[in-house]
Amino acid sequence: MAAKRIKRIAVMTGGGDCPGLNAVIRAVTKTAINRYKLEVWGVEDGYRGLIEDHIHPLNTNDVSGILTIGGTILGSCNSSNPFSYPVQSGKRTINKDVSDLCVANLKKRGIEALVCIGGDGTMCSAAAFAKKGLIVMGVPKTIDNDIWGTDITFGFNTAVTTATEAIDKVHTTASSHHRVMIVEVMGRYAGWIALHAGVAGGSDVILIPEIPYDLSKIADYVKARSKKGKRFSIITVAEGAKPKGGQRVVFKTEKNSPDPIRLGGISFVLAEQLGQITGLSCRAVNLGHIQRGGSPTPIDRVLGTSFGHYALELLMKGQFNRLVVWKEGKLGDVALSRIAGKIKTVRPSNPLIAAARAVGTCFGI
Ligand code: F6P
Repeated sequence: MAAKRIKRIAVMTGGGDCPGLNAVIRAVTKTAINRYKLEVWGVEDGYRGLIEDHIHPLNTNDVSGILTIGGTILGSCNSSNPFSYPVQSGKRTINKDVSDLCVANLKKRGIEALVCIGGDGTMCSAAAFAKKGLIVMGVPKTIDNDIWGTDITFGFNTAVTTATEAIDKVHTTASSHHRVMIVEVMGRYAGWIALHAGVAGGSDVILIPEIPYDLSKIADYVKARSKKGKRFSIITVAEGAKPKGGQRVVFKTEKNSPDPIRLGGISFVLAEQLGQITGLSCRAVNLGHIQRGGSPTPIDRVLGTSFGHYALELLMKGQFNRLVVWKEGKLGDVALSRIAGKIKTVRPSNPLIAAARAVGTCFGI
């Protein structure tokens, strides 16, 4: 059977933003218009724009000059799930499946396919839309690098670069004041940012969610350094790290988000506990959303451009409902239905952990 000839597509960015989103929007839009003469529409603020019908045409001028700019020209949202969306029912707010409305808003403009640029929450809904008959192409974004099926997501390299620069800066002040400095990085339930930025910044201790830590081991380690004349230590901790048998530190809960838990604050807890046990001066810094901002690195610009272009090539070949991935050094794709609901965490057997251990890094165990 010949592949359906697509004439009109929409593109949206969902979930938490990250550097490189504009590179993908630009690649999708320019490839669609220049190479395939398609009509392109932009959806504002992720799935919220589909629900509230904020969809407008995009032309090549709209996406010109955005490659180097962080964030997303379309806006994003990580708290609107079209399959469980809060609506007013009399005096009560109830959660309703409004996905049919989203499909209708696309159909009335003759839009046949949707390019969803997002993380695992966005891809879960994308897979559910595909089941409803909408043609969906996924592009994996997130600073967390935790999307299953791809070795790398765009946004990760920029976040690691930003976090590494911060760790480098903290190094000098830690050294001047003979302190233990604890740098908290994002990543949700995966330790990719902490592991990579921690190694790149020469952290003495790296704590990741996948390896629950023992506080006394960290205390012994920094005390031993102190005795050896290394009068400061740098600890990089992932926001999702937790002690053996203990809990993660939750900053807040966002009721309507597909993933309501917001982690954050572990660095301050650790600084207090370590200060008490060791008697050393400890300070914490949480890098927070700084990791999501700024201009994308060249790697993320290249990845974003490649992903966006590849998504269009797949679509025009009739390979529908796929997630573009980077696997073993090359572009590829997997079925959206295969990735929904899974995340990719750091395996304790990851070679970078072995390399870090070999140079003396402590993982808190
Ligand atoms: O998924 C990206 C991310 O930045 C996580 O690393 C972090 O836990 C979360 O989003 C923060 O979400 P919000 O922007 O809602 O605070």
